[in-house]
Amino acid sequence: MASLGSWPALRLGERLNDYSAVVGVPSARQKIALTPLTGQPLAVPPLYPGDMVAGVRQFELYCEPSAHELFAGMVTNTWAVNHASSQLPMLGPMLALRRGESVSIRYHNNLPETTTMHGHGMAVPGPADGGPHQRIAPGDSWTASYTVDQPACTNWYHPHEEGRTAPHVYYGLAGMIRLDDDQTDALGLPQTHGFDDIPLVIQDRVFDDDGQFLYAPTSQEIRMGYFGDYILTNGQIEPVLNVPRGWVRFRLLNASNSEIWRFYFDDDRRFIVIAGDNGLLPKPVDARMLTLSPAERAEILVDCSRWYSEHFDLRATGIRGGLQQRVLSIRVENGAGLVRNPPVSWPEDDFQPAGSAPLRTFDLGGQGGLRINGRLMDMNYINEQVPLNQTEFWRVRSTNGMMHHNFHVHGGGFRILSRDGSSKNLQPHERGEKDVVYLPPGSEVLLQVRFLHPAGSQNPFMYHCHFLEHEDAGMMGQFTVT
Ligand code: C2O
Ligand code: CU
Ligand code: CU
Repeated sequence: MASLGSWPALRLGERLNDYSAVVGVPSARQKIALTPLTGQPLAVPPLYPGDMVAGVRQFELYCEPSAHELFAGMVTNTWAVNHASSQLPMLGPMLALRRGESVSIRYHNNLPETTTMHGHGMAVPGPADGGPHQRIAPGDSWTASYTVDQPACTNWYHPHEEGRTAPHVYYGLAGMIRLDDDQTDALGLPQTHGFDDIPLVIQDRVFDDDGQFLYAPTSQEIRMGYFGDYILTNGQIEPVLNVPRGWVRFRLLNASNSEIWRFYFDDDRRFIVIAGDNGLLPKPVDARMLTLSPAERAEILVDCSRWYSEHFDLRATGIRGGLQQRVLSIRVENGAGLVRNPPVSWPEDDFQPAGSAPLRTFDLGGQGGLRINGRLMDMNYINEQVPLNQTEFWRVRSTNGMMHHNFHVHGGGFRILSRDGSSKNLQPHERGEKDVVYLPPGSEVLLQVRFLHPAGSQNPFMYHCHFLEHEDAGMMGQFTVT
């Protein structure tokens, strides 16, 4: 593994690789001289607990146009959720859900286009999924009502309008979901929102010379990736966070359209990975770097007490486009922490690998490279019918030796049993319950799935590549669970 110290120092907005070599065509984009407003205090999306009404936790979320100052003297037009109440010029508040509670989440569409709002990672029945069938016309609203019934984890919400997911997310629509339960509360992990428990939404963006988001992928970029010139962290460029002296938890979400980020600290310090997409890992894992493909999450614990350097940076390198940037400057200047020691006890993992189960195969690639099992997404075609509460093996194969993909499943999580035939090829954060799995070119994974919630043909679940350009181009299929 290359040592971090050997990577060249790049100026903000510069790339490690020659981007045009990555996508195979000369990029039409010119690098524009913008002056990013770096070094501002990190905007932590507020935790939104909703309102308890007759035993149901109710949320009102307004999807609206907003505006943001990212570059000196420029106003970037954005889309945001609850920007007035949350003071966030893009993204949205972090919803606080608790296992066992009934919730009702109402999304109001005050945008000029039809969209949808999907609860990514939520194990809920088809009608509450917020996928492409639960459309919300401008001026309308739509409500997801369900009982939260899954272990503590970090999920997120984002648009899922068929063919338009990528631009809708690009303009700024996405927010995090914090799901808590009694078991995880008892572990003594840092969990004071905004103090020692920090959500980080990582995205990359291209801007035009007026400082506006430029979403204009060429057909090559649709296939090979649409990579930004800047990394935004909670919608900011290189912000700063004061943390307490103690252990701090970061909830990382790669909400980028197609970049895969490798995260690490500039002083190469170790951290502990405690959770992946859908909850705690079977046991905490020590790491120095972590790679997340689009839509993947990981929770890490960082020791901010015994290290000499009290100023350090979380950094990221795009493993495809080569952008390398500071994600967050961290300063241990916020007093004494609440958590002085890493957790000592850890819950038993009750997952049992099945000895045998029915097998389904999903081949990613085919003609044009953006098909699944040879087909493009068709809203009127149900690709798979899956029995309720039945364990299955899903084998997902990348049939193209050049293209990166991942594979996301709605309706519930899965376990990755193996990659390229071996369980040893899994990253630390891949060993727990997940809902997205990264597939490097030509690779194959074996998943164990089981769906506990139904979805009929009017409200089916989706499986798809979560590279949003691929998804919008049709790399998606539908399944019922009955
Ligand atoms: Cu993150 Cu089908 O979605
Ligand atoms: Cu999803
Ligand atoms: Cu893909």
